[in-house]
Amino acid sequence: SARLSKVLQLTLAVIKPDAVAHPLMLEALHQRILDNNFGIVRCQDLVWRRQDSERFYAEHSGRFFYQRLVEFMSSGPMRAYILAREDAISHWRELMGPTKVFRARFNSPASIRGQFGLTDTRNTTHGSDSLESAQREITFFFPDFCADEWMKKEEPLFR
Ligand code: TYD
Ligand code: MG
Repeated sequence: SARLSKVLQLTLAVIKPDAVAHPLMLEALHQRILDNNFGIVRCQDLVWRRQDSERFYAEHSGRFFYQRLVEFMSSGPMRAYILAREDAISHWRELMGPTKVFRARFNSPASIRGQFGLTDTRNTTHGSDSLESAQREITFFFPDFCADEWMKKEEPLFR
């Protein structure tokens, strides 16, 4: 039968201010996306106000790193992508590597954070961690984007 062998998925990926500040790093990360067979569905350069940062990371409010995180994420330009791929969510997370720089460096030195991460906070990239967060985060960054419509149009071409 003509069952789908792959399931197309969308995820939200962000190149954070620490990485965008360095043009060569930004270019290397963009290339990394292309090399790993992600389709770039949307790409947007933007700067967050402090309140955007607080709202996006509300689930972490109260954690010891929250103020530092909020400050950092509204400290300069970043780049947001909607990426499409088979298993996009877990593939992008895998490519980023662990959150904490120490683990990234030692356990996944070839990962993005292993290569470029500076600290636990300045860790170069963000990626959605579930279908639910991908949906929420895509809408957060791209309020006009309709995932259902996009899938209806693009998914058949992807098979
Ligand atoms: P989290 O969702 O745990 O990690 P990830 O980005 O891998 O999904 O945390 C969100 C961000 O919060 C993380 O990317 C950087 C910041 N953070 C710190 O600054 N210190 C920490 O100890 C942790 C766990 C996160
Ligand atoms: Mg997270």
